[in-house]
Amino acid sequence: MALWAGRFSKEVDATVNAFNSSIAFDARMYAQDIRGSIAHATMLGKCGIIEESESKAIIEGLRGILADIQSGALEFDPNAEDIHMFVEAELTKRLGSTGKRLHTARSRNDQVALDIRLYLRDAVAEIRKLVLELMETICDLAEKHTETIMPGYTHLQRAQPITFAHHLLAYAQMLRRDYARLTDAADRMNECPIGSCALAGTTYLIDREMTSSLLGFRQPVANSLDGVSDRDFCVEIGCALSLLMTHLSRFSEEIILWCSWEFKFIELDDAYATGSSIMPQKKNPDVTELIRGKTGRVNGDLMTLLTMLKGLPLAYNKDMQEDKEAIFDALDNTELCLKTFIPMLATMRVIPENMRAAAAKGFINATDCADYLVKKGMPFRDAYKITGTLVARCIEQGLTLETLPLEQYREMTELFTEDVFEAISLETCVRGRGSYGGPAPEAVRQQLADMRSIIRGFENA
Ligand code: ARG
Repeated sequence: MALWAGRFSKEVDATVNAFNSSIAFDARMYAQDIRGSIAHATMLGKCGIIEESESKAIIEGLRGILADIQSGALEFDPNAEDIHMFVEAELTKRLGSTGKRLHTARSRNDQVALDIRLYLRDAVAEIRKLVLELMETICDLAEKHTETIMPGYTHLQRAQPITFAHHLLAYAQMLRRDYARLTDAADRMNECPIGSCALAGTTYLIDREMTSSLLGFRQPVANSLDGVSDRDFCVEIGCALSLLMTHLSRFSEEIILWCSWEFKFIELDDAYATGSSIMPQKKNPDVTELIRGKTGRVNGDLMTLLTMLKGLPLAYNKDMQEDKEAIFDALDNTELCLKTFIPMLATMRVIPENMRAAAAKGFINATDCADYLVKKGMPFRDAYKITGTLVARCIEQGLTLETLPLEQYREMTELFTEDVFEAISLETCVRGRGSYGGPAPEAVRQQLADMRSIIRGFENA
């Protein structure tokens, strides 16, 4: 018999029951559900809404259920409609009519809104920890490569010289924003919906401040309708996860390119690559490809949440049960990706010679060659044109700007002298880019130091 059997004259159709049930995916919130119920029972007792002795018995009973679930002694009943019904039914099974008092002045609507917030609070903290770990891994790697010259790209065409450290730290900056977004979302979510009841609060003299502070929230949600119908926090967290995954995906895409024979800037550790069932020579970057693939899935979760909410009248609608699978999926997959990506990055072998060799081709010092003429007094547009002609000549002869004879430079303009070769050496080009945020080793070391202190700040916040 269902808990709400009074109003009904027959059993709900079995298919409908199965269709309606969410215990298969909301059982994972059992600890949060019990924690919320303990706070609620405490408040009911303290406010004299139920007897203190009954409040104590309920709390003891709930603790027993928690312990039994954790030890495996109590299994979830797949026929229970959801985790809230399961815990309440189990409590009543254990305590008899005292158990039936727990649901005074509350509803599953505020209960589920509370449970997800409590669950997300912990889950987001876990993701934030991993983001910090990844930022540190990036910093450790960057530390070793402030002098490692590589080509910087636009349009995936070699553009200007940078260092590997500089490239890596661009990702640390993205992750810094991801971390801040998650913190921000968690902070906005930190209000307690319990006591909103079904939608319209309650006639009992409850103390919402008390439950809110017992559960570690900043304050109770100010409007009971909003308390049960708000899922903005799921969307915000989903969005922060999508963006985080987007960054991992872009990084993954680069790693896929870098470990191809066409680049060979890095080699993945054997433990983080896979072979082919037919081609004996293959070493495939499956991990990064899967991260790229899973990003689409996490984006899909965000779309599920947004679409689920967009047409819902206030307050609770059963559509909202769909929030959990989407946000859990996004969290689970992001966590998995981070946990695999971090050690993969930490163990990959960097091949500076190949980065340097790629930087030597592709005329990535052409801008510096033009700037050389500008520093000798020529307007930039003229210098740009002359350098373009020189590049064309190099291509014709199979040369680079470094190997083109000085006479050919001087045929274009007498401003070129022997020191042009020093001016266009890749080391000079990188060292010269010392403007704030630039790739010069000194500037990057400063960026690295700043990033380390940002990480410490996050850790100590
Ligand atoms: N399992 C439901 C959910 O996840 C709990 C709330 C049910 N409330 C209701 N009025 N049927 O949304």
